[in-house]
Amino acid sequence: MKSTNPTRLSLTNALLVFAFYSLISLIISKSGFNGEFLWLVWTISGVMMFAFVFFIFRYTLEKFIYQKIRLIYKTIYNLKRKKGARVEKESYDKNTIESVTQEVLEWGEKKKLEIEELRKTETYRREFIGNIYHELKNPIFNIQGYVLTLLDGGLEDPNINREYLLRTEKSINRMIAIVEDLETISNLETAQIRMKMEVFDTHALCQDVFEFLEIKAKKRKKELTFGAKYDKGIQVMADPKWIRQVLVNLIDNSIKYGRSKDGKTVVSFFDMDEQILIEVTDNGEGIAPGDIPRVFERFYRTENAHSRDKTGTGLGLSIVKHIIDAHDQTINVRSRVGVGTTFAFTLRKS
Ligand SMILES: Nc1ncnc2c1ncn2[C@@H]1O[C@H](COP(=O)(O)OP(=O)(O)O)[C@@H](O)[C@H]1O
Ligand SMILES: [Mg+2]
Repeated sequence: MKSTNPTRLSLTNALLVFAFYSLISLIISKSGFNGEFLWLVWTISGVMMFAFVFFIFRYTLEKFIYQKIRLIYKTIYNLKRKKGARVEKESYDKNTIESVTQEVLEWGEKKKLEIEELRKTETYRREFIGNIYHELKNPIFNIQGYVLTLLDGGLEDPNINREYLLRTEKSINRMIAIVEDLETISNLETAQIRMKMEVFDTHALCQDVFEFLEIKAKKRKKELTFGAKYDKGIQVMADPKWIRQVLVNLIDNSIKYGRSKDGKTVVSFFDMDEQILIEVTDNGEGIAPGDIPRVFERFYRTENAHSRDKTGTGLGLSIVKHIIDAHDQTINVRSRVGVGTTFAFTLRKS
């Protein structure tokens, strides 16, 4: 019953019923029954006819419907089955139609969610490309302007030639910073980078980062300190190279967005059963409640940040979030405008 369709099936059934009916009529007419026996013969033939029609319809309907359902079922089942998984024996019981309906509905629901997710990613991707374009456009056009001015005679003008070259270099450095951050994000997202977990002292690592950022902090009159004395060190299990990057980004932000007078960054460690909580706190301008959920987004910068600091790419916190995620740990932020900001993240205790 491979290539059946409703018309052909009905036709076959009708022909079979017709043939059966003709056969019975023929037998009765030939047999010569008459009188009182005739009604009995017709009753028996009627019952036989009834049974015949019942079974033949039941058989074909079942075959036909199950054949179609089996196809749907198999398609969905194969789509649902993970690659390489063993194929389970199909079972068709009386409830096949109901269970297939249920499965189709569930499957449809799942697909709908998947499509929504894909759409969101697609929007995100489009916005991301738009942002890259927007961020790179400025330095490129700036460089073009400086170079054109220099070529138009500025090169011979000692008042501007050096200045314009310095500005060009600044724009180039900005482009390099953006491209490097993008590369880091891309590598972290495509999981090309694996965290190399090892035991190390985060307190010592943080001390090292303080020294690395000392000049920048001094220039902006910011003080970098620890919340307490941690003489014994703070041992954690993580990738020191990437945790260093986290600390650099967070402390760098606290310097950039810290208070211009008496600015202070404090790093504290807290022992929590299986984890160490690390907090980077500043007494800077703070982040408005509406901006807090968005600061980890790529390229997101608050209005103030935009106008005050031109060295940022808006990618630093996004990188931080990726690194902490890759460690299966969490990061969050609390902040009050005019009071300060605290970024807190966890690491596995060793
Ligand atoms: N310590 C902080 N205090 C106030 N605002 C901050 C702080 N850290 C981050 N932000 C806000 O979050 C935004 C995103 O930070 P980030 O991703 O590091 O980008 P960038 O430092 O390049 O501006 C910043 O532009 C700023 O608006
Ligand atoms: Mg930053």
